[in-house]
Amino acid sequence: MNVIMGLKEQIDLLKLPEHIAIIMDGNGRWAKEKGKLRIFGHHNGVLSVRDVVEGATLLNLKYLTLYTFSSENWNRPKLEVMAIMELMVSTIHKEIKNFMEKNVRLMAIGDLNMLPEKAHRELNNAIEKTSGNTGLVLTLALSYSSRREIVSAAKSIAAKVQSGELAIEDIDEDTFENNLYTKGMPNPELLIRTSGEHRISNYLLWQIAYAELYFTSKLWPDFRKEDLYEAILDYQKRERRFGMTSEQVN
Ligand code: FPP
Repeated sequence: MNVIMGLKEQIDLLKLPEHIAIIMDGNGRWAKEKGKLRIFGHHNGVLSVRDVVEGATLLNLKYLTLYTFSSENWNRPKLEVMAIMELMVSTIHKEIKNFMEKNVRLMAIGDLNMLPEKAHRELNNAIEKTSGNTGLVLTLALSYSSRREIVSAAKSIAAKVQSGELAIEDIDEDTFENNLYTKGMPNPELLIRTSGEHRISNYLLWQIAYAELYFTSKLWPDFRKEDLYEAILDYQKRERRFGMTSEQVN
């Protein structure tokens, strides 16, 4: 039966994760394999982003969060950083129409003030234009560092304690969650990383506490919606126990 059913049709929509996070990795290696410059890989990575976003909307997925640029990525050669920023500006500009058609709401997390002014402006414009959309919430992690996010949450909480707005005894996990960039979003149940690397690279460290991890050797520019569906099917075969026994969960 499964042989003739498409991957998408095999997915149990009642057991769909609410939130999928992806570490898009391997653009540079993909380009190198083809004897091209790294930026060629990033350009092709955008095609994967478009296809995966479409795949997510076809499933009515609620949240998709993409690791687009880490705080550490600022240390790359200046030309590559500039090219990625340009690519981001042009992609976001072009995609707004598509987001509106597909009811996608764009959001961003990270130290956005670090972005070049033009990129920041284009991003804010798209965030505002799509803010009324009620379908997929597509979040770009940009200039993002999970440790920084956690430190920033700790600082906000400390400031509330200092001002008397919050008592130390009242600090709990919810307080912390409400001070992260991802406030109001469910935590990802599935984290996908491409390119064969088995690392988390400072991504959503708090939020993925119970996420299922899925690694594929595919390089990001080769990743398509069918690969997303395969990852979801793999996730659906797993038993999530949250520290309990198998008998308890079943
Ligand atoms: C990782 O591959 C990729 C990045 C750091 C950049 C990802 C950015 C894009 C796909 C452009 C997306 C734009 C929008 C608007 C979503 P790598 O360069 O680390 O590859 P490598 O590990 O092979 O060197």
